[in-house]
Amino acid sequence: MPTSTDIAVSIAQLRVEINHHNHYYYVLDDPQIPDAEYDRLMQRLQALELQAPELITPDSPTQRVGAKPLSGFAEVPHAVAMLSLDNAFSDDDMLAFDARVTKGLEVDEVIYCAEPKLDGLAVSLRYERGLLVRAATRGDGRVGEDITQNVRTINSVPLRLMGDEFPPVLEVRGEVYMSRAGFDALNKRQRDHEEKPFANPRNAAAGSLRQLDPKITATRPLAMYCYGVGEVDEALSGASHRDILACLKEWGLPVSPETKEVRGVAGCLEYYHQIGEKRAALPYEIDGVVFKVNSIRQQQALGFVSRAPRWAIAHKFPAQEEMTRLIDIDIQVGRTGALTPVARLEAVFVGGVTVTNATLHNEDEVRRKDVRAGDMVVVRRAGDVIPEVVSVVLAARPDDARAFVMPTDCPVCGSEVRRAEGEAVSRCSGGLYCSAQRKEAIKHFASRRAMDIEGLGDKLVEQLVEMGWLNSVADLYDRSALPHEKLAGMARMGDKSADNLIAAIDKSKQTTLARFLFSLGIREVGQTTAQSLANHFGKLPAIMDADEEALLAVADVGPVVVANLRAFFHESHNREVIESLQRLGVQWPDVAAKRDQPQPLAGQIFVLTGSMESMTRDEAKAKLQALGAKVTASISKKTRYLVVGADPGSKRDKAEKLGVPILDEAALESLLAGHSVTD
Ligand code: IVH
Repeated sequence: MPTSTDIAVSIAQLRVEINHHNHYYYVLDDPQIPDAEYDRLMQRLQALELQAPELITPDSPTQRVGAKPLSGFAEVPHAVAMLSLDNAFSDDDMLAFDARVTKGLEVDEVIYCAEPKLDGLAVSLRYERGLLVRAATRGDGRVGEDITQNVRTINSVPLRLMGDEFPPVLEVRGEVYMSRAGFDALNKRQRDHEEKPFANPRNAAAGSLRQLDPKITATRPLAMYCYGVGEVDEALSGASHRDILACLKEWGLPVSPETKEVRGVAGCLEYYHQIGEKRAALPYEIDGVVFKVNSIRQQQALGFVSRAPRWAIAHKFPAQEEMTRLIDIDIQVGRTGALTPVARLEAVFVGGVTVTNATLHNEDEVRRKDVRAGDMVVVRRAGDVIPEVVSVVLAARPDDARAFVMPTDCPVCGSEVRRAEGEAVSRCSGGLYCSAQRKEAIKHFASRRAMDIEGLGDKLVEQLVEMGWLNSVADLYDRSALPHEKLAGMARMGDKSADNLIAAIDKSKQTTLARFLFSLGIREVGQTTAQSLANHFGKLPAIMDADEEALLAVADVGPVVVANLRAFFHESHNREVIESLQRLGVQWPDVAAKRDQPQPLAGQIFVLTGSMESMTRDEAKAKLQALGAKVTASISKKTRYLVVGADPGSKRDKAEKLGVPILDEAALESLLAGHSVTD
């Protein structure tokens, strides 16, 4: 029978152990034990605390969620006001800010601390003797709301600080946010439960923090990054903002790993552009970067204006969401006949470009968002992603707004529109009879990753199809169908361009089986599948005549791809086009089929990042795949190697964190040449 002292000791040990793993998992993003083992530790602690409830303390890891729902949030006055920041929207604004700072300090150059500006909610955490006693929203900056119960459920927020060097009273300021992945999962859950999804991660974070029932908040994937301090009853050691952040990190508080010291305004602008490039790849949303004069002495010398410090500024990225009027809903017919409703918009500047069209994905999406012609809508453009309509501003709906109806006939060729059961997509049944599908099929065929015909741009393809001069991809190689004069006579062409284009077309005749297969534009047969098919069968006729069983034996090929392949090669028209292409000179070397070829990298997962000198990323990918490797886009613990070229971006950091071995270009070449590499 364990004595009460034994229990107390075990409880204390378990808490130390669990807090340690919490810190590694949630703050350092570097789990040290499997989840199941962590769960067992928690269960052991819960069981012991059940035996000795008098030993339960508020900082026990079992006590993140416990309290009952509130009837409202109490007010919390901030001893040190929570300020906001001035904004810069351009390089000129930044130059003006830096000029004010250097002039005010009478220096030539200033060191700044640069941080990402997370798009979430500002929160103040109060620790007394290392214990989290209060968490509050910003409110109006002087008085906020008490959200202690909810913040306690955020796993990256320590309930007790680490070490013993911290000041007795420490207020920490930071941003509570929701990761993109967490947001997507939450919205999926909302939809599954027929509840309204959140418009964006910021709203989701705000809604989750303002829950009166902390049990609900506990189910929401919130996280926090700390970026400063409020009331502190003892001077913090160190002379700079970066030193303060380093202390916070020491005490177990989460601080953004993107934080960096930069020199002068040139350093600020460089950081802004670097983070801008990384922005879409970051696991959370940011709406800009923040620059703070790094020296605390200099900060004090500069002081404040009304509600913002003179020593800091937010350099904002162009907004990714804006409102505009949806004029009408058009239908676009794609390569596979898919009918996509597209919103025609009053021009709006969003995500750094002027947008006049945005995708509405499919009929169900239009219905779910209840988008009507004439509505005011929120449009989003993030990174290079196609702009989309996020939601409708219902309050601004005009009386004459018109609901959308999916047409029953293709608006381009008049063929019947069909929607297969269980599919979200409606398709034109016209196949290559439909000029829209023909245009898209030819554009795809000529594109860089397919036959790579330089100079055959989308506009030119559209014009040639409209003129009736280009009816199939085979016509491209047939000089009697498409002679030099016709090409030279097109808008913005001329003799020289026509010569160049014909040379590029001729050059594309020498290709590879994988490229050729991909070029055919068979539904669901992307580059990877095309490569697997080529590797497996080696020859085109073997693929064209393969039965279901033989096709299913190929890596990554499932029943849907099999059905698409069989339907495509069953169509006599498609076989004729392939024959014509070969007759007109399109050719490739047969590949040694998988059975005969060694697969030294079988089952190994590679990720490629950055640009290489001796080959393109696509070439590297094809070579790796030919040796049996799988090439994926994102890094996980299963990744065997990350291959880095120049300017690798955030993947490198992630690989280092996860302990994934990194290969440079030379090491990759040696691996491809058949040499083994040492990690
Ligand atoms: S510092 C005295 N740093 O931006 C300076 N704010 O527009 C106070 N924010 O209310 C703020 N990331 O919610 C600071 N690295 C960062 C930030 C950041 C996001 C938010 C914060 C603040 C708002 C000001």
